[in-house]
Amino acid sequence: MHWRDEGETRAFAKKLAAHPGVSDAYIELQGDLGAGKTSFVRHLLRSLGVEGRIKSPTYAVVEPYVLPSGSKRQLLNIWHFDFYRFNDPREWEEAGFRELFASPGLKLAEWADKARGMLPQADLVIHLAVLDNDVRQAEAIAQTPKGRELLA
Ligand SMILES: Nc1ncnc2c1ncn2[C@@H]1O[C@H](COP(=O)(O)OP(=O)(O)OP(=O)(O)O)[C@@H](O)[C@H]1O
Ligand SMILES: [Mg+2]
Repeated sequence: MHWRDEGETRAFAKKLAAHPGVSDAYIELQGDLGAGKTSFVRHLLRSLGVEGRIKSPTYAVVEPYVLPSGSKRQLLNIWHFDFYRFNDPREWEEAGFRELFASPGLKLAEWADKARGMLPQADLVIHLAVLDNDVRQAEAIAQTPKGRELLA
C-alpha cells in the first residue's frame, strides 16, 4: 500500500479496527526510526475508542489500555510495546510479559526484533517505510490464519 498522508494511514487503521478479530491479535510494526509505527498505533487505538493521551512506550516498554465493554465488544485489553530499550531477557519474566502475551487482547509491538526469542509469531506484520515527507509505503504480511483473516 501507499499511504499518501496521515489521513490515509488513519483510514487503514480504522478499517483494521472494525474487524472483530483485532481484539485478540498480535501485530508487529516494523520500520526505521520515524517510519510511523507509533503514529499508526495511535490511529488504531483511537479508532478502537481509546481516549486521552497515547504515549509512545519507548521508556516504559509497554503501555496498557483497557476499554470498557461496549454493546458489541467485551472488555478489551490492549498492550502497546516498544522493545527498543529492551535488552535484559530476565525483564521478560519479571515484567510479566509472558502472561500478557498469553492473555486475550490486542498486542502491538514496535522493535520486536529486540525481543525476538521471547515473542510468539505475530499474526500480522506491517512494514513501514518513508517514501517522501508524508508518504509511507506499507507492506502487510499475514503469518497465521488469524492474520490472513484480518488482511482479507
Ligand atoms: N502517512 C503517514 N503515516 C504515519 N505517520 C506519518 C505520515 N506522514 C507523516 N507522518 C509522521 O511521521 C512521524 C512518525 O513518527 P513515529 O513516532 O510514529 O515513528 P516510529 O516509527 O514510531 O519511530 P520510533 O522507531 O522512533 O518509535 C510522525 O511525526 C507522523 O506524524
Ligand atoms: Mg515509535
